[in-house]
Amino acid sequence: MKTLSFETELSKVEADVLVVGLPEHPENIAGWDAFTESFSSRVLDWVRSGDIRTGFKEIVKMPSMSEQGYQRVLFVGLGSPKELTEDKLRQVFASVGKELLASKYGNVAIWTAPFTTDELTCADVVYTASEGIVLGSYKFEGYRTDSNEKDFSIDALQFISTFDEEELKAAYAVGKAYAEAVNGARHLVNMPPNLLTPSKLAEHAIELAEKYDFEIETLGKQEMEELGMGAILAVNQGSAEEPRMIVLKYTATEEWGDVVGLVGKGVTYDTGGYSLKPRESMVGMKGDMGGAAAVLGAMAIIGELRPAQNVIAVVGATDNMISGEAFKPDDVITSLSGKTIEVLNTDAEGRLVLADAVTYAKQCGANYLIDVATLTGGVIVALGNDKTGALTNNEEFFEEFMEASLETGEFVWRLPLTESDKKRIRKSDVADLNNSPGRDGHMIFGGGFVGEFVGDTPWIHLDIAGTSDAAAAHDLGPKGATGVMVRTLATLIERMAEKDTE
Ligand code: BES
Ligand code: ZN
Ligand code: ZN
Repeated sequence: MKTLSFETELSKVEADVLVVGLPEHPENIAGWDAFTESFSSRVLDWVRSGDIRTGFKEIVKMPSMSEQGYQRVLFVGLGSPKELTEDKLRQVFASVGKELLASKYGNVAIWTAPFTTDELTCADVVYTASEGIVLGSYKFEGYRTDSNEKDFSIDALQFISTFDEEELKAAYAVGKAYAEAVNGARHLVNMPPNLLTPSKLAEHAIELAEKYDFEIETLGKQEMEELGMGAILAVNQGSAEEPRMIVLKYTATEEWGDVVGLVGKGVTYDTGGYSLKPRESMVGMKGDMGGAAAVLGAMAIIGELRPAQNVIAVVGATDNMISGEAFKPDDVITSLSGKTIEVLNTDAEGRLVLADAVTYAKQCGANYLIDVATLTGGVIVALGNDKTGALTNNEEFFEEFMEASLETGEFVWRLPLTESDKKRIRKSDVADLNNSPGRDGHMIFGGGFVGEFVGDTPWIHLDIAGTSDAAAAHDLGPKGATGVMVRTLATLIERMAEKDTE
């Protein structure tokens, strides 16, 4: 986006397209008569006759039929204003974004008044518009050589509003920071695994650190060996690609305390190892670093908005491959924590990567832990593809997290982790833990295994195996990577920062 501007009068607008919300009674919109008489009355007639529908997210495009400087009007239905929420507005603007992408309109004006309600201010409209449009118009360009389409971007965006301009600018910047970070995470997940290797993922983190002034550490194989990170190293053993343990530190207060640790599974490709995946299940496993992408995306928002909350991000990056040197079922490995693990299934590799990443986050001073991972097919069986599964050891922390997820509209559902589950994770004749107690309720075993390394630290586990990738276009974006949890993690951090400064 090259230019952002604000205008108070509809008649001054110059644009390819003017975006207008249509609540069920458009005649009630403040300033509706700013349209020319003939246009506004015709639109009302068409709404009455049902030729233009005002249902939620219904889109109608038409020439402006007026002397004004906008060439077309894009009406988007809002349904009943009473039922409109921030999350629904975000969806409305994402559908607008999809339409702008499809029609390649790069010079866009948005009239804010029709979108406001008793609850939603102009600033809310501008925030959800900047977020929704950037999310909705995302497209992974890919590597086709026969494509002569140029990348779409909105060159000029104008808001028509009489609200305080500085406040609107700030709202716009927040929405943009959120959506661009989500798209950044989507891009990483959509990238092919030969191009997004652990060292490339580390390079991406280094760029973030340079841009946002984070402290950064990227441990290579030798450093990991010296520290004793036997769990992630076992997963990496069969690979030609070096692993990376990526650490980003955002210091917001004078002292390094009260630190939230965000830990991501960064398996850049998961073949399953010797417990090899069937060929159909292997395709798509380039996305097994979705947790890492979520954590790095959240850090990008934190870097932009700089909340008063210390955060450390730890990403364990490796692929899970086969060779004469690869680890195998029956191996016993020693994790960074000192705990020994009997490997029963090399395809349960994510929990091994996370074991060392979580331990390292604790060693770096994390007082709260959230791990994010495409960890189990079990979560898809339990909750489907539209709900992230969660476990926790701390009610209060989880409640705070759930409030953030309600704000972003990213659905999370908690599963139980009982003493008998823990017993099964600890059952082994030869080691402290086993990495695969069974397939019955195995989302819980996956997350519960990570829980063995957190101790008393308040902890939330997020299994995004179902939500990280979408099989078809959805409310906020196209088929493919969703960037799930980027927004919720950042929202939680912002909320925790606000609480601290109260
Ligand atoms: N990366 C997979 C989980 C996954 C499945 C992610 C489907 C995205 C879509 C994970 O490493 C895995 O293979 N988990 C196994 C665990 C089992 C061996 C205990 C699974 O869920 O089948
Ligand atoms: Zn696996
Ligand atoms: Zn995996």
